[in-house]
Amino acid sequence: MKEQTITLKNKQNVDYPKECTFSKEDWEVLSKYWFPVAESREVTDKPMPIKLLDVNLVVYRTKHKVVVFRDLCVHRGTPLSMGWVEGDDIVCPYHGFRYGTDGKCTSIPAHPDAKISPRLCMSVFPVIERFGLVWTSLLGKEDNLPHFEAWEDDNFQQIVCPPFDIKGSAGRQMEGFLDVAHFAWVHTESFGDRNNAFVPRYQVDHTDYGLHVEYLSTVSNYPKGQQSRAPEDFKWLRVFDVYPPFGATLKVHFPNDGELWIMNAVCPISARETRLFVPIARNFDKDSPIEDVYAFNLQVFTEDSEMVENQKPEELPLDLQMEAHIMADRTSVAYRKLLKKMGLGAIYTS
Ligand code: FES
Ligand SMILES: [Fe+2]
Repeated sequence: MKEQTITLKNKQNVDYPKECTFSKEDWEVLSKYWFPVAESREVTDKPMPIKLLDVNLVVYRTKHKVVVFRDLCVHRGTPLSMGWVEGDDIVCPYHGFRYGTDGKCTSIPAHPDAKISPRLCMSVFPVIERFGLVWTSLLGKEDNLPHFEAWEDDNFQQIVCPPFDIKGSAGRQMEGFLDVAHFAWVHTESFGDRNNAFVPRYQVDHTDYGLHVEYLSTVSNYPKGQQSRAPEDFKWLRVFDVYPPFGATLKVHFPNDGELWIMNAVCPISARETRLFVPIARNFDKDSPIEDVYAFNLQVFTEDSEMVENQKPEELPLDLQMEAHIMADRTSVAYRKLLKKMGLGAIYTS
């Protein structure tokens, strides 16, 4: 049989998705940044469908690396997440095409002798595995991963809370993480206190990566029932670092030099769906059950999500005239200005 060449005009770059929930302008800005898409421990040789900025992707692990492709076989559009991994290849379940980790098709079982065009290739996205998470980027142009020194520190225990899904926008969620006036109201069951609603003045500094905020108050970070562990006059320092568009860390200083680090790592699945990943590190209570950490954080996330899922408009208004601001909102006002400076629209859709 004569050798035949199987070719295809395949675009490597991902285009603005059909029925995208983001405006084209916002989507183009956001697609340059890195976002967490899965916990490292859930990425195995079983291909898993994920979604980022309305683009369907598949993530899986071979013996050598973690791979992220578009979840769409270039032959007939079958999701590769329905397939399986064999060695370093992923196999499409429809006609058995195989693709290597570089995206190139390595086998077409219907024509075993045909030469395969290098253009028969999946769109491959870059991957970073860090803080117990798999991060990817549609365009991979910016360096926006948060710094989280405690993750590498042996004096700290590292924990990744199970991902938490929110029917709301990433911008609203992020702003909630940075908000210090809601503790007394939203978190009354977990750690806040209605009688301690006052927000002392604090400062917001601009940095090369985003924002740095130090907030000193009497709001305890111990769960209800444990709050007597802190001396009565203890002042709680919370240090926020913001890595726009949707990354932030919070370091809470506990009594006796205790430190709790919390990362807010957000995947904007769509403009109305957000998956929250939360790597945590602590240098105290390291022997207490991890399930207690999961349970406490789940309670806090649930309290927060009740607000975020009901705010209107769903998107974060970057036009500062659209909502009222108080002194306690200094961080969120600075955050909104940053997003605007990044090129996101005034009627921002996430
Ligand atoms: S659709 Fe994937 S091999 Fe045909
Ligand atoms: Fe909160």
